Amino acid sequence: MKFLRKILVLSAFIASAGWGSASLAAEANGTVAKSLHEDAKCTKCHDSEETKPILSIYQTRHGVKADSRTPSCQSCHGASEKHLHGEANQKERISPDVVFGAKRGTSGAFAPSEAKVQNAACLTCHNTANGKRNHWEGSQHESRDVACTSCHSMHVKDDPVMKKSTQTEVCFTCHKTERAQSHRISTHPLNAGKMGCSDCHNPHGSTGPKLLVKNSVNETCYTCHAEKRGPFLWEHGPVTDDCTNCHTPHGSTNAPLLKARAPWLCQECHSGDHGKTIYSGVNLPTGNTTTVNGLQGVANQGPAAQANARACMNCHVLVHGSNHPAGAKFQR
Ligand code: HEC
Ligand code: HEC
Ligand code: HEC
Ligand code: HEC
Ligand code: HEC
Ligand code: HEC
Ligand code: HEC
Ligand code: HEC
Ligand code: HEC
Ligand code: HEC
Repeated sequence: MKFLRKILVLSAFIASAGWGSASLAAEANGTVAKSLHEDAKCTKCHDSEETKPILSIYQTRHGVKADSRTPSCQSCHGASEKHLHGEANQKERISPDVVFGAKRGTSGAFAPSEAKVQNAACLTCHNTANGKRNHWEGSQHESRDVACTSCHSMHVKDDPVMKKSTQTEVCFTCHKTERAQSHRISTHPLNAGKMGCSDCHNPHGSTGPKLLVKNSVNETCYTCHAEKRGPFLWEHGPVTDDCTNCHTPHGSTNAPLLKARAPWLCQECHSGDHGKTIYSGVNLPTGNTTTVNGLQGVANQGPAAQANARACMNCHVLVHGSNHPAGAKFQR
């Protein structure tokens, strides 16, 4: 009788939370009632009086009780038989089988279970055969004991890590370097909430380096910057090799996301100052101001052109590659 009353209260709560008609229809066939009956083992103590918003789980995907795949309290926290027994306020209550809360350290009533134990509870349903998680085992996060719940929150209406606008903050709790980089003047629109870390990274594991969504840095960049893929008649070696030869993905003080400013960026690989040796008259054997390969005007700009304005890109405008028959030096 007592359970039944509780179920009615919870049904009302769920209806008020917006699962109205769908759950009412399903209630007829008993799915909802059965599931809530199981939950009542726990919710008879952990109810709406609790300071933590435990019942808000009914407003999440895990609270769609009309769906028979939906977990009960015990699907995640374990059967917890020993925890169930005893008075509501008894001291020294034995902990539930699985205590989550990897993020909060040991400040709760019970110390969190080991990451492996927490993860196993989620993986009973979200197994690694799912395409997005089939590289979880052995991934950087798994092997460093990062729990599913280090990123995911279950008892809140909107899990912050699932939304681009709130995801970065979750990642930044651990990744401070990337947070600092994201505040530089040149960045991807991460803090604007237009992009998430998960546009480039698969936090559940990947076959590429650094948890990238694709097998390489370049394949990842091409998913949005397709025009940089080419094919080009004249390719620039470092571009086809790895975009991060020149760019940094998370933020830079040199726009656009460059590791260093030109001309220094270019001079990391091209040490010869061809401006002095080729262009200025004084450096030529004849001592005359001249043109290179008959390109009138270029020479007259002198070596200063290499450091001014767009530096090397004053002339080498197509650093990512050229399709012009005479574009071997990326000038057109
Ligand atoms: C007889 C009452 C009672 C029942 C039934 C009960 N609990 Fe508890 N539970 C408590 C008390 C008391 C605490 C420790 C005090 C607190 O919540 O701050 C607690 C603590 C917890 C905690 C840890 C909270 C924290 O902050 O670390 C979890 C998780 C939990 N219970 C889950 C469950 C689950 C799941 C069930 C059902 C399988 C359940 N409880 C059934 C009384 C109960
Ligand atoms: C999908 C898995 C899942 C289900 C289902 C679930 N929980 Fe939890 N529970 C968690 C996780 C994860 C946490 C850690 C805090 C968070 O992520 O919101 C947690 C935290 C708690 C806490 C401690 C609160 C805190 O933040 O310290 C209690 C108590 C609790 N759950 C009780 C319940 C009860 C009662 C039910 C059933 C109505 C339930 N849980 C259903 C995963 C689950
Ligand atoms: C008893 C099975 C079960 C367990 C255990 C379970 N889930 Fe789920 N989970 C589901 C179902 C069913 C859905 C809805 C899936 C769908 O719509 O395809 C879901 C959805 C999700 C989603 C997507 C939510 C959204 O808003 O789209 C996340 C994230 C998630 N679960 C994480 C977890 C985590 C983390 C745990 C462990 C703390 C966990 N789940 C435990 C069954 C489960
Ligand atoms: C490092 C942070 C992080 C960890 C750890 C993590 N997730 Fe996620 N998860 C995310 C992000 C971000 C998304 C949303 C982006 C996406 O879909 O890839 C997501 C999406 C999901 C989804 C919904 C989309 C889908 O794949 O169906 C489920 C379910 C899920 N995670 C389950 C889990 C489980 C289970 C674990 C533990 C084995 C886990 N996650 C560990 C960050 C994380
Ligand atoms: C609880 C802390 C924690 C959270 C939250 C977290 N990470 Fe991590 N992450 C780690 C740890 C620990 C490693 C292992 C490598 C290391 O030592 O930095 C790692 C590694 C990585 C790597 C690979 C680094 C490498 O060297 O291969 C990437 C990429 C990454 N995390 C992205 C994310 C993203 C994206 C999110 C948010 C969706 C996220 N992380 C959330 C702790 C965390
Ligand atoms: C535009 C794509 C892109 C986005 C968005 C992105 N990353 Fe990365 N991330 C990369 C690439 C590429 C690398 C590897 C090259 C490098 O380290 O510079 C990387 C490397 C990392 C590493 C490893 C760093 C190291 O020193 O080994 C971590 C950690 C990381 N990212 C976290 C994040 C977090 C957290 C976010 C969200 C705030 C994020 N990334 C957003 C592309 C991206
Ligand atoms: C999910 C899509 C996406 C991916 C993947 C992506 N980018 Fe971007 N990129 C953007 C968007 C959006 C902008 C901002 C464009 C704007 O502001 O007009 C941008 C801008 C840039 C800029 C110009 C920044 C500026 O200040 O003008 C560079 C350089 C860049 N990305 C390089 C990369 C590199 C390198 C990679 C691979 C590591 C990468 N992007 C992966 C979406 C992406
Ligand atoms: C050799 C160094 C270098 C490499 C490697 C490189 N870039 Fe760039 N990138 C630059 C420079 C320099 C600029 C600024 C161009 C300008 O000012 O004319 C730039 C600008 C950009 C821009 C913004 C302006 C535009 O042209 O759209 C994007 C996006 C971009 N790069 C993406 C990429 C991607 C994706 C890769 C890898 C496929 C890559 N870059 C590899 C040097 C490089
Ligand atoms: C990571 C090293 C690296 C960086 C940085 C770099 N390059 Fe290159 N560049 C190369 C390589 C390797 C080649 C191919 C050389 C060859 O084929 O002999 C090349 C070729 C060239 C060529 C054609 C040379 C020829 O003989 O056909 C030009 C022009 C050029 N780069 C300009 C630039 C400019 C401008 C920048 C700065 C925006 C730059 N490079 C940055 C490595 C680099
Ligand atoms: C005033 C225009 C101009 C500027 C500025 C300029 N270049 Fe050049 N660069 C040229 C011309 C013209 C050629 C030769 C084209 C030819 O032989 O067809 C050339 C050729 C090159 C080559 C091919 C090897 C060689 O020496 O012939 C490289 C590499 C190169 N430039 C790199 C750079 C770098 C790095 C910078 C910036 C420090 C730079 N250039 C600035 C016009 C310029």
